[in-house]
Amino acid sequence: MMTSPLPERLHLGCGGFAVNGWLNSDGSWHVWLARWPRVRRVAIACGLLPHFHIDHPWPQTILHLDLRRKLPFPDNHFTAIYASHVLEHLERQAAVALLREARRCCRPGGVIRMAVPNLSVQVNDYLQGRILPEAPGHTPADTLLHRLHFRPAVTTGGRFQSLRRLYHHLYDFNSHKWGYDSTSLTALFREAGLSDALERQLLDSAIADISAIERPERIGDGGTLIVEAIKRDS
Ligand SMILES: C[S@@+](CC[C@H](N)C(=O)[O-])C[C@H]1O[C@@H](n2cnc3c(N)ncnc32)[C@H](O)[C@@H]1O
Repeated sequence: MMTSPLPERLHLGCGGFAVNGWLNSDGSWHVWLARWPRVRRVAIACGLLPHFHIDHPWPQTILHLDLRRKLPFPDNHFTAIYASHVLEHLERQAAVALLREARRCCRPGGVIRMAVPNLSVQVNDYLQGRILPEAPGHTPADTLLHRLHFRPAVTTGGRFQSLRRLYHHLYDFNSHKWGYDSTSLTALFREAGLSDALERQLLDSAIADISAIERPERIGDGGTLIVEAIKRDS
C-alpha cells in the first residue's frame, strides 16, 4: 500500500534503516514480516532471511518494492533518490534499468545518488597483499571473493533445503551480482541517460540534509564509492 501523499524523496533498498521524510522501500520479505515478529524469527531460523537481521526489527512503514521491476511512481515526481549498498545486488542490466526508472521518476533538477562497494579498493588491497586469509584453509583470493559477496562457496543443506532454494531462486537479494569502480559506475549512469554523473565524497551532495540518510559508520570506511547525478531535463 502506497503512503499518501507521496513523499518527494525516495530511499531504495533501505534495509531496516528508515529515514523520516523519505519514502523508504526494500524488496526483502522482512518488509512483509515486520508486522509478525514471530513468523519473521521462524523465517530467519529456517535460513530464508539473513540471520544478521535477527535482533534488528524493521519498521512497519517500509514500502515493499522489488527493484528488478518498474518503479510504481509517476514521472517527474521525486526531488531525490538514494540507495546505499544496493545497486551491486542487481545484475548489471537490472541496475541500468533501475537508473532509467529513477531518472523517469525524478523531476528535472532532482538528484540520483548511489553508494556501492568500491571494486578498485578491494582489488588493490588484494594486489598489494593487504587482504589476509580470514579463516583456516582460506587463501587471500578466497577472502577477496568472500568480501565481494558473491554466492557462498557452500550451499547449506539441512532441513527446509528445498524451500530455501526456492526462496533464493526468487529472491536472492543478499549476494552481489556485479561490481563497480568509478569509471564503470559513471558509465552505467550515462547509459541510463544521466550524463553528468560524477564521483562524490561522503556527505558531499546536492541533496539537502544528506547527513540524515548517509551514514558515515556505514560507508565512511574508504571502501565505498559514491556517484551522483542531476536529472537535467524531463
Ligand atoms: C546490503 S543491504 C543495504 C541496506 C542499507 N541500504 C544500508 O546501507 O545499510 C542491501 C539491501 O538491498 C535490498 N535489495 C537487494 N536486492 C533488492 C531488490 N531486487 N529489490 C529491492 N531491494 C533489494 C536487500 O533486501 C537489502 O535490504
